[in-house]
Parts: sequence; structure tokens; C-alpha cells
Amino acid sequence: MSRDGLLAGLKVVIDAGPTCEDIDPVRFLGNRSSGKMGFAIAAAAGAAGAEVTLVAGPVALATPAGVARRIDVRSALQMRDAVFSVIDAADIFIATAAVADWRVASYSERKIKKEPSGTPILELVENPDILAEVAARSPRPFVVGFAAETDHVLENGRKKLARKKLDMLAANHVDATSGIGADDNALEVLWADGGVSLPRAPKPDLAKALVACIAARYRARMHA
Ligand code: C5P
Repeated sequence: MSRDGLLAGLKVVIDAGPTCEDIDPVRFLGNRSSGKMGFAIAAAAGAAGAEVTLVAGPVALATPAGVARRIDVRSALQMRDAVFSVIDAADIFIATAAVADWRVASYSERKIKKEPSGTPILELVENPDILAEVAARSPRPFVVGFAAETDHVLENGRKKLARKKLDMLAANHVDATSGIGADDNALEVLWADGGVSLPRAPKPDLAKALVACIAARYRARMHA
């Protein structure tokens, strides 16, 4: 991939993949995120000349060429610590991770036995919203969020853009054959006074188009 320079000189932090919330030494709560979209964006941002830090949940993916630094984490709390350890220097934050919404209130050091107590009832607590916390900082980087929606992609996307105070939101439609875990995807990219549809394409192509969009909006904001 050629370095096209669209993000030359900028520091970009990207989180990617799922988080796993351990219940006991053998069990966890997780989700179907593969990390492919986030890793493709990391590759595209690196190719565009950015200094990329990739914070990765548990995924089976090699570090793309052009990524300066990768921090591997497992849980949402670890992902938040990792993001916050590098966010001060970031010009752009792209939150592609499928952060688990909940974790168990208390981790069991010992494997929970089926006997004698029967079916356990897990108490869950909410995880921090890493994206919203970064967006609430001042000063803050240019903040890009993702949304996986099953219905009303545009309407829900606009609400999320406003609620989380994002500079940009990339919303996709998730069903059995697209979105999470798939090799290609389509995105509705939204910002406060505009938007663009990026049609279905393999994730590396889509990532390149999204990075071009991010670069254009970042420059527009800088010159506003
Ligand atoms: O609200 P929802 O989970 O749909 O928002 C998705 C966006 O928020 C994604 O960009 C995701 O990375 C981010 N997020 C986060 N921390 C959470 C939940 C979501 O950073 N706990």
C-alpha cells in the first residue's frame, strides 16, 4: 500500500476487536467482533502516513504493516486503561472496538461448579463507555465512533453522534451476513452537518475510503 500522506504527521489511536469479560478461570462474556474492520483502518491510517497506536482486544490477527505500536488487552477496563495511557498525544481517536457493555460484578477465582448450588445467577455491572469518556475530555482528539445497528441505521446513527458528542460516526447494518465478523461491509458515515454512504466493499477498501473521509473532516475542523 502506498503512503498517500493524507494523515502525515498525525497521531492516531484506534481500538479494535471485542473485549472478553472473565467470569471465572475458564468462562467469559464476549461477542462476535473479529477486529477486521479496526485492523483494516489501522493499516489504512498507517498507509496514509499516520503514527498509529492500535489497542487490540483478543483477536487472531497479525499487526498490520505501518502500525507503530500495538497494545493487547482482554477486558473493557484494560482497554480503557490502554487507550487513556496514549490518548493525550492523539490527534484522532477511532473507536472500532465492540466493547462489552457489561462485566460480572465479581470474578470467581475458582471455576464455578455446577454442583451443588445449581444454575448461578450472574450479577452484571456496566462497563465504562471509552468513546464517550474520550469525547468528554477537553482538549480532545478528533473522535470517530462506530455503531452496529440492526434497524434504522441513519436515524439511530444520528442520535448516537449527538448523544456521545462525536465528530464522526460510522454506522453499519448488522445481520447474519454482514457487519460483525464478515469480510466486507458498508458504512453510513455521519457528521454534524453532513454525511456520505460508503457502499459495500471488502473491509480494506472501505477502511481506505473511511480514512480519506476522516482526513477531510479533520482538516475541515482544523480550519473552521
Ligand atoms: O452505544 P454503542 O455501544 O452502540 O456505541 C458504539 C461505539 O461506542 C463504538 O465506537 C464503540 O467502540 C464505543 N464504545 C465504547 N465503550 C463502550 C461501549 C461502546 O468505547 N463501553
